Amino acid sequence: MDILEALDERRSTRGFLDKPVEKETLERLLSLATQAPSAINIQPWEITIVSGEERKRLSRLLEKRMRERNISCGPGAKRPLQEYFVERQRGLLESMLPNLPEGTPFQDYINEGSCNFYGAPTAIIITIDEVFSKARLTDIGLLVAYLVLAAHGLGLGSCPIGLITAFDNEIKETLNLPEEKQVVIGIALGYRDPDATVNHSRSERAPLNEMVKWRE
Ligand SMILES: Cc1cc2nc3c(=O)[nH]c(=O)nc-3n(C[C@H](O)[C@H](O)[C@H](O)COP(=O)(O)O)c2cc1C
Repeated sequence: MDILEALDERRSTRGFLDKPVEKETLERLLSLATQAPSAINIQPWEITIVSGEERKRLSRLLEKRMRERNISCGPGAKRPLQEYFVERQRGLLESMLPNLPEGTPFQDYINEGSCNFYGAPTAIIITIDEVFSKARLTDIGLLVAYLVLAAHGLGLGSCPIGLITAFDNEIKETLNLPEEKQVVIGIALGYRDPDATVNHSRSERAPLNEMVKWRE
């Protein structure tokens, strides 16, 4: 697949087939994703692949904690956002809402779906050692970008799941990860269900002139 096409085509998948991803495909995906650049090639990411019963167990725990704490998926901003940012979020909601089961509140759908990795057979948990500064999160972002694009190229669907970072301690405990690791993001991964209407949504992007300044 052409990389430029992949950049344009890829969108998050929130409905998956009940079909495991083969070990060889996962290995190929990981070897492509870890070609991502990182500052001084330090490759600060640590990747845990959670599949099968373990994936279900993790979701049961997240769903339980979500019911207890009712976290909501948001941008984690320090102040109220400017209107044009709010408008972009609204655009996502408007693109997804018509494709959700009737009467489903959007926030509940995202919260519950995220904790269940939208039913994906594999959840990828990406952690970083707390020895690193916040600057190294850029490296993780690049890894995630490579990973979601490589997944697309391999015929897989994916969705980054930031919401689960609210349950960092619980995830580390259940996956036996050391205390000094920080959960940066999860990724739902599997084969895209073509019949899941939510997958027919396509988020749009703001026009370039809203985001880019040219200086000559
Ligand atoms: C850092 C990050 C965290 C995200 N967290 C979630 C999440 O918790 N739940 C979810 O359903 N989608 C999540 N997403 C997916 C975004 O909603 C999605 O990427 C965005 O709406 C753009 O749509 P697209 O991926 O289809 O292009 C996240 C994406 C990123 C990059």
